[in-house]
Amino acid sequence: MSYQIAIDGPAGAGKSTIARRVAREKGFIYVDTGAMYRAMAYYLLQEKADPSDEEEISEKCTGAHITIEYQDGEQVVLLNGENVNPVLRTEEVGNMASVTSKNKKVRERLTLLQKELAEKNSVVMDGRDIGTCVLPNADVKVYLTASAAVRAKRRFDELTAKGEPCDIKKIEEDIVKRDEQDMTREIAPLKQAEDATLVDSSDMSIDEVVEKILSLTEV
Ligand code: DC
Repeated sequence: MSYQIAIDGPAGAGKSTIARRVAREKGFIYVDTGAMYRAMAYYLLQEKADPSDEEEISEKCTGAHITIEYQDGEQVVLLNGENVNPVLRTEEVGNMASVTSKNKKVRERLTLLQKELAEKNSVVMDGRDIGTCVLPNADVKVYLTASAAVRAKRRFDELTAKGEPCDIKKIEEDIVKRDEQDMTREIAPLKQAEDATLVDSSDMSIDEVVEKILSLTEV
């Protein structure tokens, strides 16, 4: 039987850093579902799909065959056989993903793939709807959040460290806008599952959050 740890939460809460660490500690695979939505968005951008045309998105998304592989413990997303990891983190792809992830067909296709992965492997899976829709029977469910101001500050520090000029006010505004989009969409909105443990990382270090989640697991 596979063991399933679901971590949901808003953008910038530190889900991927934490999920990757927990997966390493447990020897499970880490499944970054956001990267799958980004790969789909990248495909739709290449196909020049109009993000506001639901019908076109539903039709065109069937041409994207997304699979994942693991190389040195890292998830590699293959789009129609091609490794698209290097192109997934751009603003353009993120913005497209935020719109196209609302589409029913897109969600059906990716949810199916995510369920299959978690049936065959013990996983730490992070996203927005993992505890509520993808793995409703997960062994451990965590809702990881932090205040918008703290999330904005973390992103600001990250960009500044890379030498990228940015405005913390604008970052916070974008975060609040994305939260609103993810929480109010019709299908699979971001929300805390009833049986999820709330972890607010605003005043916690990465180590403390990892320890907290490990303490919830029983393997
Ligand atoms: O976590 P991220 O920024 O890589 O996610 C990219 C987009 O995909 C984001 O706008 C929300 C969406 N997403 C989703 O709808 N459901 C998931 N399980 C994961 C991500």
